[in-house]
Amino acid sequence: MQTIGVIGAGQMGAGIAQVSAQAGYRVILSDIGLPQAEKGKAGIAKQLSRLVEKGKIEAKVAEETLDRIEPAADYGSMSAASLVIEAATEREEIKRSIFEQVGKVLAPQAILASNTSSIPITRLAQAAPDPARFAGVHFFNPVPVMGLIELIRGLATADETITAVEKYAQTLGKKVVHANDAPGFIVNRILLPMLNEACFALGENVANVADIDAAVQLGLNHPMGPLTLADFVGLDTCLEICKVLFTTTGDPKYRPAPLLVKYVEAGWYGRKTGRGFYDYSGDTPVPTR
Ligand code: 3HC
Repeated sequence: MQTIGVIGAGQMGAGIAQVSAQAGYRVILSDIGLPQAEKGKAGIAKQLSRLVEKGKIEAKVAEETLDRIEPAADYGSMSAASLVIEAATEREEIKRSIFEQVGKVLAPQAILASNTSSIPITRLAQAAPDPARFAGVHFFNPVPVMGLIELIRGLATADETITAVEKYAQTLGKKVVHANDAPGFIVNRILLPMLNEACFALGENVANVADIDAAVQLGLNHPMGPLTLADFVGLDTCLEICKVLFTTTGDPKYRPAPLLVKYVEAGWYGRKTGRGFYDYSGDTPVPTR
């Protein structure tokens, strides 16, 4: 059985760990400390028991899946992994520091991959032990539900690396698309201008939160309105991606909406902090504007 390392046990990392374990991989899950990694595993246990309740998987399968996930206090055990996927906070200095640390224990042929939403893979590869064995593997939230993985090739990524990561991604039952290392890759280059524009529209008083969301959800048949989706992704993450698009292209069309910046400055990051464009403190989200 192949071993996959996942660094970061938040909503993306836990999702990646879950789908990997469901596909039969042994997973080493780490975060800034053991309690955070264990919390990630506890969240996966909840997701799996929901699947059991709905009759989607058997209790025994859920138990075996969970047994394959090992929370780790540090990166030492990642030496057993053939692929290590980083899914930490969307900040370059954090990711670089992780690659430098995990690079010290990585097995000689192992591949290091980042689930970055938009930081250039070629640049991140500079902090990896071998840029030829480094790639972007971009999952979508919620990972167990979304059917896509974007595979990003940095300038120095070897063909064998892409082939190996593609094989892994296919075993998860997801569609794989290939992107070159351009700002925002495919999905976020197209998605973020829409979410950012919804923030401009709200800031310029075109309509209120509920109407902007209803307009796009029903008028374009999207599963979620853009402000709901921005809260779901995390406004801090949305802002980081906008900044990357803006600074790496120098194109003013990607400038972050002032209201998005303000919300992040206020610590209103969306669902994860209980408040963004909606207030999540009650049973149902309430628009804040
Ligand atoms: N984890 C696991 N499963 C979940 C889930 C979660 N967080 N949220 C919902 N689900 C499951 C439900 O259990 C349900 O499963 P079932 O059909 O087997 O019962 C199914 O998804 C549908 O859920 P609901 O009926 O509760 O609600 P919806 O029909 O509204 O679907 C949604 C929820 C799937 C999240 C849907 O609203 C959606 O697709 N939203 C858009 C999500 C999206 O665009 N994601 C991409 C974000 S961008 C990104 O991730 C890139 C990053 O770099 C920024």
